[in-house]
Amino acid sequence: MTRKLALIGAGRMGGAMLAGWISGGVGESGIVIADPYPGEAARAAIGAGALHSKALTRDEGKDLETLVLAIKPQMFEALGPGIAGALPAGTRVVSVVAGITLAQLEAIFGKRPIVRAMPNTPAAIGKGITGFALNSHCGSDDRAAAEGLLKAAGEVVFVERESLIDVVTGISGSGPAYVFYMVEALCAAGIAAGMPEDAAMKLARQTIIGAGALLEASDETAEALRVAVTSPNGTTQAGLEVLMADDGLKPLLTKTVKAAVERSRELGG
Ligand SMILES: NC(=O)c1ccc[n+]([C@@H]2O[C@H](COP(=O)([O-])OP(=O)(O)OC[C@H]3O[C@@H](n4cnc5c(N)ncnc54)[C@H](OP(=O)(O)O)[C@@H]3O)[C@@H](O)[C@H]2O)c1
Repeated sequence: MTRKLALIGAGRMGGAMLAGWISGGVGESGIVIADPYPGEAARAAIGAGALHSKALTRDEGKDLETLVLAIKPQMFEALGPGIAGALPAGTRVVSVVAGITLAQLEAIFGKRPIVRAMPNTPAAIGKGITGFALNSHCGSDDRAAAEGLLKAAGEVVFVERESLIDVVTGISGSGPAYVFYMVEALCAAGIAAGMPEDAAMKLARQTIIGAGALLEASDETAEALRVAVTSPNGTTQAGLEVLMADDGLKPLLTKTVKAAVERSRELGG
């Protein structure tokens, strides 16, 4: 049987991508899953015909077009050489391993097409966003293939320079936590204004969920949606004047993203 796609590490992120590939029509019979203890999505795929490997062998890897690496960063050094040893020269590698650079990937996998990607947690429900960069051995077919696989987890954004992956991390990689904290902060602000905690949390949480869903359902920009709900001298304008002041949300988020980008650079360096 020809196995053209391998997934190494079938935990949360690997499992989310795998589920997307299968629901998108990639047949289980063309996939190898290497993970000693595969997660739920992988067990289902293995039950439906994907090949399960504890550690990829040369024979299992011989027809691979793409290998997707989704192991933990701290496992990379120990597992990388064994995985590389099982790969034919032309197999492209797509890594979602946080902090592992293209240079580190090339040091293990050699001169071949390599894609470094950074997804985020909403990938678990197919609503993620993944930024990706290519090494110099990638052609347009490698970019298209990687994009197709990464889209299983949601939207994708290509970045020209690998250094921008740290910025992807600072915006969208860490971004879901910023939004969750926004729910907490909005709830706390509601409590401070006299609302009981349960109701404040319900109002805050559903506001973020609803606004996100509205943004997704609409063709309008975020700015146009904001303007549409802001009547002159109304309540929203009063609130936004605080949020949009010179010392409001924009400088705070600029500082927030900068801190995350810097940490990402330190961890990757
Ligand atoms: N989750 C996210 O939102 C997210 C976002 C961006 C990037 N990433 C990146 O995605 C990668 C995976 O993260 P995750 O959250 O999916 O972690 P995870 O759930 O722990 O997945 C890692 C998987 O690798 C497995 N594994 C252990 N030993 C292995 C081996 N010898 N060969 C193959 N697989 C092995 C683990 O099995 P055991 O559990 O049995 O050890 C686990 O199933 C990380 O590098 C992370 O930086 C994740």
